[in-house]
Amino acid sequence: MNKEKKIMNSEKPNYGYTAIKYFIGISIVGLIGLIVVMFTFFIEDPLKSIIFMLIFPIAITGLYIGALYIPLYHSILRTNPIKDVWKHILKDFRGDEQVLDIGCGTGRVSINIAKHLVSGNVVGIDIYSGVSGSSPDTAYYNAEIEGVRDKVEFKYGNVLDIPFPDNAFDLVTAGSVLHEIHDDKEKLIVLNEIHRVLKPGGKFVSIEILRDVRLYLALLYFAFVWKTKNFWETLLSKSNFKKWQSETHTQFLNLGIFIGQK
Ligand SMILES: C[S@@+](CC[C@H](N)C(=O)[O-])C[C@H]1O[C@@H](n2cnc3c(N)ncnc32)[C@H](O)[C@@H]1O
Repeated sequence: MNKEKKIMNSEKPNYGYTAIKYFIGISIVGLIGLIVVMFTFFIEDPLKSIIFMLIFPIAITGLYIGALYIPLYHSILRTNPIKDVWKHILKDFRGDEQVLDIGCGTGRVSINIAKHLVSGNVVGIDIYSGVSGSSPDTAYYNAEIEGVRDKVEFKYGNVLDIPFPDNAFDLVTAGSVLHEIHDDKEKLIVLNEIHRVLKPGGKFVSIEILRDVRLYLALLYFAFVWKTKNFWETLLSKSNFKKWQSETHTQFLNLGIFIGQK
């Protein structure tokens, strides 16, 4: 059975985040290792020392990964708290907005927003490089399952050169996307592109996981890619957005919510 058929049979949206099961597996190995190490107290040397030296590092590594990565992964990727963030942002919506979701991936943000629209539409653009399984097909499949297929459109598009005219959208959203533009000058280009495609008075909302010491402890590559709140605020102040605000929403990790207005 190919991957696409498996997805179709599951009847659940596929937002492409599956690594949690590997972290759980590694933690279980760590736990079993720890139990084995405890049993070495009942046996004699040299077997005791050999088992201890071999198994103890594995047990500690497994448990360390479990203790740090599982809550971290769960916190980032569990959809409900993120849904709550968007709900909070969308509370003043009329329902007829034209929305652009940049870096839409598997459509998670686009679909959440589409659920709040009545006659409005969401267009999602992506270069489809990041999230595993991300493609317009997967995003359309998710939209179908979530009942918003008629309100969304997904297509290829680079945020560095947004393929839409000036003043086209009431809202532009970016769910954990801006950090993927690694060059800071390019990040500024993206902010100004977003500003360009917004209608006067239109809003831009970006959600970014904020860097903190736990990410370094977890030896996570993202510790270097995710930025501090101060970084994003400085970048916004250099952009064409003259009105903007920021909030922090904590759900194990700190999520920075940045709202700009044209
Ligand atoms: C962490 S994922 C977030 C996906 C989605 N917004 C979500 O919340 O599930 C970041 C997305 O940004 C996309 N991306 C990265 N650079 C991009 C670019 N220059 N233009 C458009 N999309 C880009 C990646 O392909 C990826 O799908």
